[in-house]
Amino acid sequence: MKPKVYITRHLPDIAQERLMTFCDPVLWDVDTPPGYEEILRQVKDKEGLLCLLTDRIDAHLIESAPHLRVISQCAVGFDNIDIPAATSRGIAVGNTPGVLTETTADFAFALLMTAARRVVEGMDYVRAGKWQTWGLSLLLGSDLYAGTLGIVGMGRIGQAVARRARGFNMKILYYDNQRKPDLEKVLGIGYAELDDLLRQADFVSLHINLTPQNRGLIGPRELALMKPTAILINTARGPVVDTEALYLALKENRLAHAALDVTDPEPLPSSHPLLALSNVTITPHIASATVTTRTRMALMAVENLLAGLSGEKLPYPVNHI
Ligand code: DGY
Repeated sequence: MKPKVYITRHLPDIAQERLMTFCDPVLWDVDTPPGYEEILRQVKDKEGLLCLLTDRIDAHLIESAPHLRVISQCAVGFDNIDIPAATSRGIAVGNTPGVLTETTADFAFALLMTAARRVVEGMDYVRAGKWQTWGLSLLLGSDLYAGTLGIVGMGRIGQAVARRARGFNMKILYYDNQRKPDLEKVLGIGYAELDDLLRQADFVSLHINLTPQNRGLIGPRELALMKPTAILINTARGPVVDTEALYLALKENRLAHAALDVTDPEPLPSSHPLLALSNVTITPHIASATVTTRTRMALMAVENLLAGLSGEKLPYPVNHI
């Protein structure tokens, strides 16, 4: 008999087919998430769970799944899963690291350029029929080249962003809770404490995990340290930035622009005050959204799931069971 698994969203066909060969899946085949109660109901008799970052997998849900042996997250971030609860029950948890690094770095850079050169405002201007002539002072932006980029979090994605920034001849500062002298030479980056980085950078790009320590890392005090001409990019997790403080800083022009692929709350309701500001660019958490990367992520998640069901070590483990 094939093991029973619950899949909280439709996967690319190639991943779905592989899964069907080895498992007996129940699939939530709708684009919006199943919701906590539905997952809770489904996991009661399942041995495997393949989930997304939108699914809250907390201790209560884990306790309610007596047969569960593996939780496979189709994302690199796993702040939606209570890892200690899974580990104490002997449940293996896996994620999809590495595969989305370059794709996400491309997107962070796309947001950086879009915000610095006011691409969205330009499009809005043209659409609104305001384009009457070439204007010497029309939609002036900031130069990336020779500007200072502050990268918060020098993990895989932070490093990939730094490599791109070098091509633009930017000065690169980074902050990380672990200084990385080897990388400093290779990437031509300089270490700065967070406050110094925020004071000096023309552009700040966030590449840290959401942990209890990082929640609200960029709050009123940190925003006040930034230059009023600075641009903030967030492709990490929304709650790393204090949304209310960010809104006030942008509204009062204490910060030039924020380009966010992740928000708090997420999804951001269309009535949210941030969306009424012209100095904000928001995309719906699509930094890893290319066909190739999302397919690879799904295949990795299936590999993790199948390994966990066979009692093997996960190829991409979060915990070590
Ligand atoms: C992740 O994988 O954690 C990203 O946020 C979504 O691709």
